Amino acid sequence: MDFVTDIIGDELKTFEKKFTEAVKSQTPMLDRIMKYIIKRKGKQLRPMFVFLSAKLQAPINESTYRAAALVEILHTATLVHDDVVDESLERRGFFSINALWKNKIAVLVGDYLLSKGLLLSTTNNDFEHLHILSEAVKQMSEGELLQMEKARNLNLKEDIYFEIIRNKTASLLSSACAVGAWTTSQDKAITERMKLFGEKVGIAFQIKDDLFDYGKEDVGKPTGNDIKEKKLTLPLIYTLNKVDKATKRELIYIVKNDNKKAARVQHVIDTVIENGGIAYASEKMNTYRDEALSILHEFPDNEVRSALEELVRYTTDRKY
Ligand code: IPE
Ligand code: IPE
Ligand code: MG
Ligand code: MG
Repeated sequence: MDFVTDIIGDELKTFEKKFTEAVKSQTPMLDRIMKYIIKRKGKQLRPMFVFLSAKLQAPINESTYRAAALVEILHTATLVHDDVVDESLERRGFFSINALWKNKIAVLVGDYLLSKGLLLSTTNNDFEHLHILSEAVKQMSEGELLQMEKARNLNLKEDIYFEIIRNKTASLLSSACAVGAWTTSQDKAITERMKLFGEKVGIAFQIKDDLFDYGKEDVGKPTGNDIKEKKLTLPLIYTLNKVDKATKRELIYIVKNDNKKAARVQHVIDTVIENGGIAYASEKMNTYRDEALSILHEFPDNEVRSALEELVRYTTDRKY
């Protein structure tokens, strides 16, 4: 990611200050939790996409900074809520908010972050930012709910999987690229193109995230958690459609009834690997990555475009 840091390193430093400022609270408990969140920051991929998408058109301005902060605030809010929903106790290599402060507080912290994002935009009359991002926030809720609904009956086809990840994850990356491009171009056609680019990246991004769940590597959050939560993701969906009836029945039984038994979950993981589920999902991920890159290549070749290309490749090659 050296090239990305060369191109937007200064912007990212300024961004961190603005983010910290934007989530500040006078309420002691919220203040403590916000400090905790800032200390345990993530990869900040979405702000990077905002800045590079903006810079691809013209120099970054104040409104680009606010867009980047808004996107990362919304992302953080959804992570805090997602860990409640997924009953996940680890995030970014440390305890999740719900692990430390319990669900009730985590729900309110997520709401607080959402409201701070809205305030950042309304106080600056950034209505186009809100327009672009509200759609994503809606889609994220729809995606998470559709996922929960499907976890109940465990009957998942590939097209529904893609609908889920397009909504819960790709929508925000898509909006990040769109809003970035908008802040420097105010051009509808360019913004739409960057939106589609971001959607492709977002889908590849979530397939990668789902692949992590099948690994043993330390990625800063639990692995094997999707099966525990009865989430069928691409490697398993592919495997279920490929194996014989008896194996399929066995796998579904484990996901449904034995999903808290580590050895049984491991058996599912091993079967997925043996049957090429990981390889299949990786291939799909690369197809989306390449589709994203071909949209990107419609724009003039310059160093910002190269940095964006590096960031797209990082999305699929990353280790956490
Ligand atoms: C995690 O996103 C949530 C998903 C959409 C899979 P990131 O992997 O970008 O999380 P952080 O911000 O770097 O922790
Ligand atoms: C993405 O799904 C979560 C959001 C879009 C908020 P996951 O549930 O797979 O994300 P992780 O793995 O917990 O980060
Ligand atoms: Mg989760
Ligand atoms: Mg995940």
